[in-house]
Amino acid sequence: MKAPIRVAVTGAAGNIGYALLFRIASGDCFGKDQPVILQLLEVTPSMSKLEGVVMELLDCAFPLLQGVEISDDPNVAFKGANQCFLVGSRPRGPGMERSDLLKVNGAIFTAQGKAINDNAAADVRVCVVGNPCNTNALIAMHSAPNIPADRFTAMTRLDQNRAASQLAAKLGKPVTSIKNLVVWGNHSPTMFADYLHATVDGVPVVDLIDAEWLSTTFIQTVAQRGKAIIDARGQSSAASAAGAAIDHMATWFHGTAPGEWASVAIPSQGWYGVPKGLMFSFPVTIKDGVFTVVEGLKHGAFAQGKIDITTRELEEERAAIADLLS
Ligand code: NAD
Ligand code: LMR
Repeated sequence: MKAPIRVAVTGAAGNIGYALLFRIASGDCFGKDQPVILQLLEVTPSMSKLEGVVMELLDCAFPLLQGVEISDDPNVAFKGANQCFLVGSRPRGPGMERSDLLKVNGAIFTAQGKAINDNAAADVRVCVVGNPCNTNALIAMHSAPNIPADRFTAMTRLDQNRAASQLAAKLGKPVTSIKNLVVWGNHSPTMFADYLHATVDGVPVVDLIDAEWLSTTFIQTVAQRGKAIIDARGQSSAASAAGAAIDHMATWFHGTAPGEWASVAIPSQGWYGVPKGLMFSFPVTIKDGVFTVVEGLKHGAFAQGKIDITTRELEEERAAIADLLS
């Protein structure tokens, strides 16, 4: 039996938390042979709700779940943590953009970045889900100067999954037949769901689907999917967000399969002209926990224009919270 890993989840009593914890505990993320200890963080008023969630976790009698600890103190919740899902923050409601959450949620990620810096395990890895996730991840990263910057990521896997699902449905193919689909930039309506390199069973998607549909309906559907779900449900996506967080961390933990790319927001080293330090979604391959950006992809004027727009938005977000970047 492997030694257990410590998995911290913030906002554990929230909607995404409720869909996420049970999948981590059942082995869907880190493997069916990897025991886990869950370390759950909530705000004080939600601790009793969290206690109820813990009762349910225990009632599942998951063989891999070797412990559940709860706290309203980030210094406790991140103690020795190897894997961190930063979910806890306020979600947007109808009529709001994700960027409206910048100031509200920014302070949370300063405190949690510092607590991770001071308490987490040396091999800690962080996935930020709470919106606006790219810039929140940037804030957490800056608040943790003793941890290598490339351990901080933000989640654009939900956008990649949405895009793959749209293409698969359009083509009447299984979602697994879609490869090399990339989400560039910000988890916001400016993201670019780049179908131009995507293939289905090895055939370029652009050879099979009408260019007008791809460059308009497809891109807008993916970019606006979060809003569509809020409009329909009255609440933001939860089960699909949890599923994407599982995919994100599982791919980081186990690595990408040969020939497979994943979209992950990581601190830019200047790849594709994206300014250094921006938390930007790139296509990556992953081996032994290390990200390698897929380089050498050619962008025409259309794609470059889209990448420029999402880059500008991330620069504006960074400028808006500059005071939080110590
Ligand atoms: P929710 O309101 O149901 O749950 C959030 C939980 O976080 C609540 O229980 C709240 O008490 C807790 N919380 C708030 N501040 C906290 C803090 N400082 N420390 C610990 N816990 C704290 O919201 P949700 O639906 O679970 O969504 C959570 C976040 O995820 C939102 O910001 C949402 O916009 C975002 N989200 C991101 C994606 C993505 O693709 N990146 C997808 C869906 C949702
Ligand atoms: C999503 O994409 O579903 C989430 O980011 C929630 C939102 O505010 O759109």
